[in-house]
Amino acid sequence: MSVKLIVGAQWGDEGKGKVVDLLSNDIQVVARYQGGANAGHTIVFDGKEHVLHLVPSGVFFPNTICIIGNGVVFDPEAFIEEVNMLKKVGISVENRLFISKKAHVITPYHKLLDKARENETSQMAIGTTGRGIGPAYQHKIKRCGIRMVDFLNFEVLSEKLRNNIIAENKVFKFIYGVDELNAEQVISKFKEYAEFLTPFIADTTLFINELIDEGKNILIEGAQGALLDIDHGTYPFVTSSNPTAGGACTGLGIAPTKIDDIIGIVKAYCTRVGNGPFPTELLNETGEFLRKEGHEFGSTTGRPRRCGWLDLVALKYSVMINGIKEIALTKLDVLDKMDEIKICTSYKFQDDTLKSFPTDLHILEKLNCEYVTMKGWKTELKNFTDFDELPIEAQEYVKFIENYVKVKVSIISVSPDRKDTIFVN
Ligand code: GDP
Ligand code: IMO
Ligand code: MG
Repeated sequence: MSVKLIVGAQWGDEGKGKVVDLLSNDIQVVARYQGGANAGHTIVFDGKEHVLHLVPSGVFFPNTICIIGNGVVFDPEAFIEEVNMLKKVGISVENRLFISKKAHVITPYHKLLDKARENETSQMAIGTTGRGIGPAYQHKIKRCGIRMVDFLNFEVLSEKLRNNIIAENKVFKFIYGVDELNAEQVISKFKEYAEFLTPFIADTTLFINELIDEGKNILIEGAQGALLDIDHGTYPFVTSSNPTAGGACTGLGIAPTKIDDIIGIVKAYCTRVGNGPFPTELLNETGEFLRKEGHEFGSTTGRPRRCGWLDLVALKYSVMINGIKEIALTKLDVLDKMDEIKICTSYKFQDDTLKSFPTDLHILEKLNCEYVTMKGWKTELKNFTDFDELPIEAQEYVKFIENYVKVKVSIISVSPDRKDTIFVN
C-alpha cells in the first residue's frame, strides 16, 4: 500500500492529468485537495482526449474511488456538466465519486465578483480563469461560505444564499456598478443542484482515513502548481489555494505522516497562463515555437500560454517547499527539433547572484537569468521506451536537471498519450 502525492512543480499545466491517469492503473483511490474548476487536466488514451476540471483524473479506471476533498472549492454547475460529459463517453461515477461535506461551494456571486474585480483592477489584474475561485476562498476565510453539507438542509442553504446575495448585491450596485443577482432565482437553481448532488456528498475525511488504514493504494492529485501557491508563489499573481504538498493534508484531512511519496510534475520547459513574473519567458520566435510545438493553449480558458526555458532556480525552490522525492518530466518531445536548448541555472539582480527564489515582486520582474546551453537531440522521442536508448543529448538534459535539483527523474513523458511514457529504473 502507499499514499502518493502528485504536485505541479511550476506554474500549472505541467501534465498532472496525464501522470495521474497513467499511475491510476493499480490504484484504488484518487483524491483532489485544492483548487476548483480553474484546473484543466488533460488525459489522452485510445486516440481520444478528455479534459477534467473537478473530477479526479483516475476516473477513467472503472473501479477507482474518486474523492473531491474539503480543500476544493466546488462548482456545482461545472461538476454536473462534467459528470454528464463522462456519462456520454461511457464512464459511470455512481457509488465511486464522493465530495466532502466540508468543501466550500462556488456560487454565481463568486463568479461575478471574480470578473468584476479583474475588470476593475486592469493594471493589477491577475488574469484569473474567471471561475470564482478567489472570492469563494475569500468567503471561506471570512466564515460566510456555503458548504456541501448545506445542500442536505434546504432551509439552511436558502437562508445562507439569501443573506450572502443581499450583502454582495450592495457590492455589485455601489462598488462595481454591475447588475444585481436575483436571490430567489439562485435559490431555485440550487434546489435542483441539491437533488443531483446529494448522493455524492460524504464524510470524506473519515472515508479516506479508513481507506488508508485498510492499506489501499492512494493517489492524491494536486491542481495548479507551486509557483501559483497563495503562500509560496509569485504573490499576488497566484491562485487562492495551497497547491504545494502541505495543502494535501489540510485539503483532505490526512496527517503528513500518512504520505509515503511526493512526485513533482515538471514540464521540460516552462509555461504560465495569466499575468505575473516569469523570469525565463521567451518573447520571441523561440517562445512562439514552444507554444506551437507544445500546443500551449489553456485547457480551461483556451488562452495562449506564455512559454520560456526551464528554470532550475525556481524548480529547486519548488523541490524544497514540496519535499519532492521524484520527478515526472513531461513534454520532453516538444524540444525534439531544437538545435540548442537553454536551462536557467542562476538569477542575477544588480550584479548579485541571488541565493534563493526571491519573494519581492520588484526583484522577480527585474532579475536577469543566467543560462547553460545544451545541444539538442534532433530526434523524435515519441517511440522510445527505454531511458538508456534515448539520444545521448536527451539523457544529458535529464541528468543535468537531476544533478541540479538532487532529485531523480523516474518518469519521462514523450507525448500526450498515456502509452508514450518512459519509466526510468
Ligand atoms: P495539467 O493541468 O498539469 O494536467 O496539464 P494540462 O492538461 O493543462 O496541460 C498539459 C498539456 O500537455 C495537455 O494538452 C496534455 O495532453 C499535453 N501533454 C502532457 N504530457 C505531454 C508530453 O509528454 N508531450 C506532449 N507533447 N504533450 C503532453
Ligand atoms: P491546472 O490544474 C495554469 C492561474 C490563472 C491565473 C491565476 C489565478 O490545470 O494546472 P484563479 O482562477 O485560480 O484565481 O487564477 O492562476 N491558474 C492556472 N494556470 N494551470 C492551472 O490549473 C491554473 N489554475 C489557475 O491563469 O494566472
Ligand atoms: Mg491544466
